[in-house]
Amino acid sequence: KRNERMDVDYIKGILQPTPTCAIWDKIWNFQAKSDDLLISTYPKAGTTWTQEIVDMIQNDGNIEKCKRAPTHLRFPFIEWRISSKDCGLDQANAMPSPRTLKTHLPIQLLPPSFLEKGCKIIYVARNAKDNLVSYYHFQKMNAALPDPGTWKEYFEDFLDGKVCWGSWYDHVKGWWDAKDKYPILYLFYEDMKKHPKCEIRKIMEFMGKNLDEDVLDKIMHHTSFDIMKKNPMANYTTISEEIMDQSVSPFMRKGAVGDWKNHFTVAQNERFDEDYKKKMMNTSLTFCSNL
Ligand code: PPS
Repeated sequence: KRNERMDVDYIKGILQPTPTCAIWDKIWNFQAKSDDLLISTYPKAGTTWTQEIVDMIQNDGNIEKCKRAPTHLRFPFIEWRISSKDCGLDQANAMPSPRTLKTHLPIQLLPPSFLEKGCKIIYVARNAKDNLVSYYHFQKMNAALPDPGTWKEYFEDFLDGKVCWGSWYDHVKGWWDAKDKYPILYLFYEDMKKHPKCEIRKIMEFMGKNLDEDVLDKIMHHTSFDIMKKNPMANYTTISEEIMDQSVSPFMRKGAVGDWKNHFTVAQNERFDEDYKKKMMNTSLTFCSNL
């Protein structure tokens, strides 16, 4: 039997699961270390994929080392807390340096020490339509987040930013504006799909590593969707069914660009595009239009 669905509350106008809200002061005061590497994303933008790439780079392409533990234990998720036993802050504080951490926080909610200490940050953005679709399926299968309701309801909630971690639009724009002031590598899911090796090389260079071509090829293979889908250390199958019910929707669902076309009605697409133009008119950030 599945657990009851998680309640949510607002932190400075951004929805978060209530256990996170309960320890918000501790999260805000988290002390990053200057050699921490942070992977930051809006939920479902390619976090797990990037985590696997980073781990492979850090371990010089050694697959066995990257299979030492499931993703959520290798990379503390700083604001995550579904119980006192499962708390990203405690995990991060217990981890030896150099640490690689995960967050979905919008830039204004990021604990200030990350920027003060000059930590390197990799941000990954995914086009809004596919991001919405992926998030909807994830909320259906994940009892640690609220029930998404119907597709029609969720579509409106996403446009209104009434989902956990807030508005996609504000998130991608906020991090975009910060990228020239801080050491932030801003990547796109669609580029990673189209030119995986090129994006892996960018990440490697940003991390200050230098790996041979054959190692880069190995990383590209190990972090491809089909291989990660079968890897129990990367596909979240170690999480109990009470929390993530992969029979409802697998964590590694499709890994594709353009799946929104299988979900949006014509009317929804028109409404989305019109709303998108308004919300994205005040930014230089653009996404690949050929989806
Ligand atoms: S989470 O829960 O926020 O950490 O989820 P996140 O990892 O950011 O996003 C999950 C989506 O990324 C897809 N994914 C991949 N796509 C392509 N290649 C690789 N290797 C890969 N790994 C994960 C995953 O399938 C989810 O997208 P959808 O569209 O739902 O399939």
